[in-house]
Amino acid sequence: MTDITLRPETPDDHPAIDQMIARAFGPGRYAKASERLREGNTPLAGIGMVAATAEGPVGCARMWPVKIGEASVAFLGPLAVEAGARRAGLGAELVEAACRAAQAAGFTAVLLVGDLPFFERVGFDIAPGVKMPGPTDPRRILVRPLVPGGAEGLEGTARVP
Ligand SMILES: CC(C)(COP(=O)(O)OP(=O)(O)OC[C@H]1O[C@@H](n2cnc3c(N)ncnc32)[C@H](O)[C@@H]1OP(=O)(O)O)[C@@H](O)C(=O)NCCC(=O)NCCS
Repeated sequence: MTDITLRPETPDDHPAIDQMIARAFGPGRYAKASERLREGNTPLAGIGMVAATAEGPVGCARMWPVKIGEASVAFLGPLAVEAGARRAGLGAELVEAACRAAQAAGFTAVLLVGDLPFFERVGFDIAPGVKMPGPTDPRRILVRPLVPGGAEGLEGTARVP
């Protein structure tokens, strides 16, 4: 495959990212509770990541600001890698790069809704005190601390700041 570079997403990437997410998740994606944390919100500039070839993005890990109680947390998603580029470690690399950028920006934890068997490999665990603004399997509400104790005491329903 052509060379793939990881870099922060820019507004210029948004049309290509939107198409990639549509291919990866299909039309049901807007019904998800996660979408409630993205509508009316603005992606975190310099923190969400894309994996790109010279032709354009082949993967993304988008990041959004959310509040849980008084805590400010980075919300990761969607995470998507084009079908032809999967199982080469890109998904995990995108998560790592986005978490590093969030940590550098001062966030202490990253929240997401996803499958534990995939995300526990990259440092996530169930967030027992956190709820989503819509029906969500609690076993899919996951958090990764970015500093020691960063996921402790998170209690309440995640909301758009
Ligand atoms: C999930 C996704 C981003 C992974 O991208 P990737 O570049 O293939 O990720 P990696 O190469 O780092 O990891 C691949 C491994 O994760 C596993 N995996 C992928 N999705 C998984 C899931 N939902 N649950 C458990 N394991 C999963 C693969 O089987 C593979 O396992 P292996 O290493 O034993 O072969 C990609 O499959 C994708 O875009 N899927 C569609 C959208 C999606 O489901 N996004 C995640 C939301 S929960």
